[in-house]
Amino acid sequence: MSNIIWHHSTITKKSRQLMNGHKSCVLWFTGLSGSGKSTLANAVDHELFKRGFRSYVLDGDNIRHGLNSDLRFGAQDRKENIRRIGEVAKLFVDSGQIVSSAFISPFVEDRDLVRSMFEKDEFIEIFLKCPIQVCENRDPKGLYKKARKGEIPDFTGIDSPYEIPYKPEVIIETHKVTIEQSVTKIISFLEEKKIL
Ligand code: PPS
Repeated sequence: MSNIIWHHSTITKKSRQLMNGHKSCVLWFTGLSGSGKSTLANAVDHELFKRGFRSYVLDGDNIRHGLNSDLRFGAQDRKENIRRIGEVAKLFVDSGQIVSSAFISPFVEDRDLVRSMFEKDEFIEIFLKCPIQVCENRDPKGLYKKARKGEIPDFTGIDSPYEIPYKPEVIIETHKVTIEQSVTKIISFLEEKKIL
C-alpha cells in the first residue's frame, strides 16, 4: 500500500506474553449453526478467565451487529466477514490474549487465509462436528425452521455449503460429549502445546 508505513510497537508480543505468563493464540471454532460454537467458546473463555489467563470471545452474531453490520451471507460477504475477523483476532493475539472466535466460517479457503495470518501453533482450528439433523433439532434460534420455509436465503447446510476442515487441530463431536468434557479437551490441548 503506498504512503502507509507500518509502525512497530515498542512492546513486543513476546514481552506481553511473558508479562501474562502464557502464550497467545486463536481458538478458531468452526461448525454449522447450532453446533455449539458460541456455547463452547464462552465456556472455554470462562474457564481460562477463572484460571487467571487473558482471554476474550469474538462471536459471529455480535460482530455482525457492529463491525460487520454491512455484510450479508453470500459467499463474498462471508469471505470478507472472516478476513476482517482474522485481522481482529490477530490484534488480540498480538496483545497477548487467547481469543476464542465463534464463526461458522464455512469455506476452507477463508479459514486457511486466516491460518496464514498467524505463526505456527498460534491458530488452533476446532471443528465442532455435529450432524445437521442434530443442529436442526436443537434449532436454538428457530433459524432452521425459517430456512426450511424459504425465509432465510443462503442458509448454511441447507442452500449454502459447509466445507469440512481437512486437518483441524481439535475435533469435538458436540452431540456425543458434554460441555465440561469439551472444555477439558481444549484446555488439555493448550497445556500439551505449552500455550498455558
Ligand atoms: S459466517 O458464515 O462465518 O460468515 O457466519 P457468522 O458470521 O458466523 O454468522 C452466523 C450467524 O448468523 C445467523 N445467520 C445465518 N447463519 C448461516 N446462514 C445464514 N444465511 C444466516 N443468516 C443469519 C445465525 O444466527 C448464525 O449464528 P450461529 O451461532 O452459527 O447459529
